[in-house]
Amino acid sequence: MSKFEELVFSGVQPTGALTLGNYLGAIQKFVALQDSHNCIYCIVDLHAITANLVHEDLRNQTRSIAAAFIASGIDPTKHIVFNQSAVPQHAELAWVFNCVARIGWMNRMTQFKDKAGKNRDNASLGLMAYPSLMAADILLYRATHVPVGDDQKQHLELARDIAQKFNIDFSERIGESGLGLDAVYGDKAVNAFFPITEPLIDGPAPRVMSLRDGTKKMSKSDPSDLSRINMTDDEELIVKKIRKAKTDPEPLPSEVAGLEGRAEADNLVGIFAALTNKSKADVLADYGGKAFSEFKPALTEVAIDTLAPINAEMRKLMDDPDHIDAILKDGSERAGAIAEKTMNGVKDIIGFLR
Ligand code: TYM
Repeated sequence: MSKFEELVFSGVQPTGALTLGNYLGAIQKFVALQDSHNCIYCIVDLHAITANLVHEDLRNQTRSIAAAFIASGIDPTKHIVFNQSAVPQHAELAWVFNCVARIGWMNRMTQFKDKAGKNRDNASLGLMAYPSLMAADILLYRATHVPVGDDQKQHLELARDIAQKFNIDFSERIGESGLGLDAVYGDKAVNAFFPITEPLIDGPAPRVMSLRDGTKKMSKSDPSDLSRINMTDDEELIVKKIRKAKTDPEPLPSEVAGLEGRAEADNLVGIFAALTNKSKADVLADYGGKAFSEFKPALTEVAIDTLAPINAEMRKLMDDPDHIDAILKDGSERAGAIAEKTMNGVKDIIGFLR
């Protein structure tokens, strides 16, 4: 059976400063995947307006994510970096997927429930349809692998469901069009136009937690700035935030099993491991039995070693917005060429005249 060509796609929203969670859960993996795959990295500005419609400076927010990508080591000449709204097929395919996905699927999304809160009737329709736009982002390029943090897992399952339903519903026409590949779902043979995407959520820090509460995700939107390390924090702030990070009174365990029930310790060891490209077991082999008073300065040092050069490079890039805009424009043109091809296929399969 033939296979879809491997391609990596992922996206980051231009809302608020990026955190260490975004870096370790996503961007660091984006960088590593460049060696083995063709990659497309998108700044998802259409997603940014789902929760809040009006943004103070969306253009510069978008540029700053591009700067973070490039400063972290993403090469926009070998791969593609662009902003979502510049390729109109994202919204076009999302519309089709709004008609593929079921309302019940959307209602089950925990992120929608969290973000919409108690007053669901007052949430934007876009917030509810958010995962269908996300599926469109990925499938517009027929991407096979998507590196994300753990919080995006459910959305990626939905993208798989959408791809599968489209392939099943249109199987015959996909076959006739000659645009698909043979696939088997359970015991059902279908012609697949879209791949069933694999999420890449592995690594020691798939879910970086708040520095103030190890049971809550580190997030851009937490009211306490002490809860997170931002990619733009200077050394002094990083020192302070790690010094104030919540811990427990016990020394670190020597085995990973000893981290169970110790959310804050587990989180800090995971962060250390991800920053140094080690496993948690490796970190505990070095620091097992040591007190936090010894571990925290070591963690601060590796955090600064990683973030300070990125920070400096981001600032340099942000001084030249025209340069960033040119990179995004070039990326959008290259992404647009692929997107147009896929969308034409979708139109032919559905039966839209063009
Ligand atoms: P966003 O912008 O909220 O976050 C970007 C990436 O950072 C990861 N992340 C984390 N990982 C570990 N620990 C944390 N505390 C943490 N916080 C954030 C997220 O999992 C994500 O990978 N819906 C997506 C953007 C998106 C997308 C896509 C992703 C739109 N279309 C298509 C992949 C494919 C989002 O809001 O991510």
